[in-house]
Amino acid sequence: MESHYQEAARMIAGAKRVTGFTGAGISVESGIPPFRGKDGLWNKYDPDILLLDNYTRNTLEVWRVIKKLFFDFFGDARPNKAHEVLAWMEKQGYLADIITQNIDNLHQKAGNKNVYEFHGNSRQFACMKCSKIYPLEDIELTEEPPSCPGCGGLLKPDFIFFGEPIPSEAYNASMYDARHSDVFLIIGTAGNVFPASQVPLQAKETNTKIIEVNPEKSLFTNDITDIFLQGKASEVMGKLEKYLQSFEN
Ligand code: APR
Repeated sequence: MESHYQEAARMIAGAKRVTGFTGAGISVESGIPPFRGKDGLWNKYDPDILLLDNYTRNTLEVWRVIKKLFFDFFGDARPNKAHEVLAWMEKQGYLADIITQNIDNLHQKAGNKNVYEFHGNSRQFACMKCSKIYPLEDIELTEEPPSCPGCGGLLKPDFIFFGEPIPSEAYNASMYDARHSDVFLIIGTAGNVFPASQVPLQAKETNTKIIEVNPEKSLFTNDITDIFLQGKASEVMGKLEKYLQSFEN
């Protein structure tokens, strides 16, 4: 197992360009439950709450669940050791950027600057009538559902609902990384949501080395993963950091 860490650290230290690819699992130790697997949100709530026409048809009911799952939970969540190591890696030059499926803003809170949010973000709202964008702090979340201060239209969180297009900046960055990064560091994703799950597969097609961090196997592990560092993100990333630091001494 130690040799896996040594090998992964050497791969990262020797790479020209490393991309982090993260999912809900990296934030579990910050208190934000994953969507699937043990304690997964989709075991308790219907994923159809993220269907756009469900939001427009059953607005009040769907808004109450969205507010509970994504705003009440996220509010005071703090980055954990795994987020902090990725921020240190970016600062040290070991990490070019992060493509994240998460909307919890924890990579930015940890200090990463180059973060691309493949599923949008929960920091702002968009008006479904006039398309105006408002930062979260300008919206009264107790209003049910939130309405546009400008035109009174229905506001939706600026993360993507199932079936909505991927934000172009994040999509373009992920395609660039798949073609140009020689290492992908995949942390905390089951790999079963399209089209995000295609990004590491595209990277593999350009001979990118895949290092994966997860307590359980994902759909990537037996398919494209070169080094599987099994364990919780904060423990594994804490160990990986030590191996990278040992190269610096
Ligand atoms: N450390 C690392 N990984 C963990 C941890 C942990 N402490 N705990 C759980 N995991 C792993 C699980 O084993 C699983 O593989 O995190 C993964 C969580 O999978 P999902 O909940 O499916 O999260 P994700 O892959 O990010 O889902 C993708 O699905 O519902 C949509 O939009 C939502 O962005 C989300 C997308």
